[in-house]
Amino acid sequence: MSVLSFRCLAAAACVALGVAILEATAGPAEVAQIKPRQDKLRDMGGALKAINDELKKGRIDWDNTVVPNAQTLKDRSAYLLNWFPKGSGPESGAKTYSLPAIWQNNEDFVTLGKVAQVEAAKLNQVAISKDANALKAQLEAMGKACKACHDRYRSPDYAKENDD
Ligand code: HEC
Repeated sequence: MSVLSFRCLAAAACVALGVAILEATAGPAEVAQIKPRQDKLRDMGGALKAINDELKKGRIDWDNTVVPNAQTLKDRSAYLLNWFPKGSGPESGAKTYSLPAIWQNNEDFVTLGKVAQVEAAKLNQVAISKDANALKAQLEAMGKACKACHDRYRSPDYAKENDD
């Protein structure tokens, strides 16, 4: 900060420097986020499915399946919004299903991320309570929160390419 202001003697130079810094930050670091982000989201998909499969089975293994997977969903959801830095969309040139609308309507995207976070925290509570009816209802609410974001901000190509 102090180095920057010290060197910014002329306003034009400050702006030029600011632009250079901004450009420098939308580079490989953002692209490097894409693959780990997809891996973590895939883990979330696996966790949701594991709980769903358990419900379908009828005999629910709370301790080995429901509780740890609900924990995964809670932990991952808490960080989800950090995985989408500006510059990590399709303009990066990397393979991503993230739509540019994420950064154009970022407030809405953040709202949906926070809703998912709340639902995941509730799911975690329900898992600990071991109430099967509550689990069913909360799993549905969780799935809706994921879908709400995917409908707007994940490319439909994902469903086509992944049988989702
Ligand atoms: C706030 C928005 C948002 C929420 C909430 C959200 N996702 Fe996603 N999800 C995305 C976006 C955007 C992508 C595309 C990521 C990419 O390709 O860069 C994605 C991709 C995925 C993928 C595909 C990963 C891959 O490339 O193989 C899975 C699986 C997934 N999400 C599962 C979930 C599950 C399960 C939840 C809820 C528990 C969830 N997501 C909640 C936005 C969201």
